[in-house]
Amino acid sequence: MKHLRLSIIGFGVVGQGLAELLATKRELLRQHYNLDVTLVSVANSRHGFIYRESGLDIPTLLGLAASGKALTNHPDITHWPRALDGLRATGGDVLAEATGTNLRDAEPGMSHIRAALTQGMHVISANKGPIALAARDLLELAHQHQVQLRMEATVMAGTPVISTILEGMAGARVHAVRGILNGTTNYILSAMAGGRSYAEVLAEAQAQGYAEPDPTADVEGYDAVAKTLILAALVLGHTLKPDQVARRGITAITKEQVLKASHEGKRIKLIASLQPVADLADCPLEARVEPIALPLSDPLARVDGVMNAITFQTDTLSEVTIVGPGAGRLETGQGLLADLLAIAKTIPS
Ligand SMILES: NC(=O)c1ccc[n+]([C@@H]2O[C@H](COP(=O)([O-])OP(=O)(O)OC[C@H]3O[C@@H](n4cnc5c(N)ncnc54)[C@H](OP(=O)(O)O)[C@@H]3O)[C@@H](O)[C@H]2O)c1
Repeated sequence: MKHLRLSIIGFGVVGQGLAELLATKRELLRQHYNLDVTLVSVANSRHGFIYRESGLDIPTLLGLAASGKALTNHPDITHWPRALDGLRATGGDVLAEATGTNLRDAEPGMSHIRAALTQGMHVISANKGPIALAARDLLELAHQHQVQLRMEATVMAGTPVISTILEGMAGARVHAVRGILNGTTNYILSAMAGGRSYAEVLAEAQAQGYAEPDPTADVEGYDAVAKTLILAALVLGHTLKPDQVARRGITAITKEQVLKASHEGKRIKLIASLQPVADLADCPLEARVEPIALPLSDPLARVDGVMNAITFQTDTLSEVTIVGPGAGRLETGQGLLADLLAIAKTIPS
């Protein structure tokens, strides 16, 4: 049996989703993957970092989180007020980074990931910030320390986009990428195609939990920009800065524009795109996030609701489209779980 000691930093929707999957799939992991995972530490910003050498009890942790009680109520733990200090003092085999995304300096996730890689831990990240701003530097750091950095959950949650393109389609040359990479905006635009206003649908999306109380990151396209940066680095090998992605969100889209597109047999979608451009000297890629009216013959046009989709144009497979969930507790936990299993496959028993 292989044994992995796991630390989860960021114990919100996604961190808890991963913990829940580890608990519910414990037998499956043992039987099918010969793997036993011990969750040795967990951290959030309010309660800090807790550690237990023999492993934390996941149902206890989920119960504390659900009832709003401090994680420090878990029995027999050692506590550090700051995650970074706890991580440096305790370590483990794998860090799951699931703190909030920020595209300014990617903190606190950047420091957590750098610290883990430097002390020889593998890292799996749901946090888009560090990967969007520094994927190639962080992969180099991982390489230097002979560990892996994986980030399946950062683009389309657990729907396998990054592993499919890098591993499943290894050797194929990608010419261009286009995708619907944000579920909130797709939900809003899909509902507007039924004749409703932006404001009305946004309010409904907020009430149903599909949109944040502050929806700026989604509706202004910043979330899609983060994923575009990640794909530019991983799939096309170019590190772009956020301001090198031409960005237009959906806040100015009217009911009339959406209905006009429908009458013309089209659907307006927020499309993230990447295309190599030979004559752009300062930036070899044209990167855009913008609403586009797509003909129904386009595979992305019929992807509705919170679903996400991505189309790769390649030399060997022409066009490949992947459709699936792009957010959610267990959906994103699945992306981290798949990364954890990919790492486990490479370590000796
Ligand atoms: N939700 C999704 O469907 C989804 C999908 C794909 C990717 N992601 C990405 O996954 C990450 C987590 O998302 P989420 O929805 O789980 O967010 P969330 O519910 O807001 O959880 C974020 C967690 O990070 C903790 N945190 C913040 N600063 C910290 C620090 N300095 N040290 C330790 N913990 C800290 C927060 O602590 P408190 O609990 O004390 O506030 C919270 O537990 C984000 O980067 C997000 O972009 C999310």
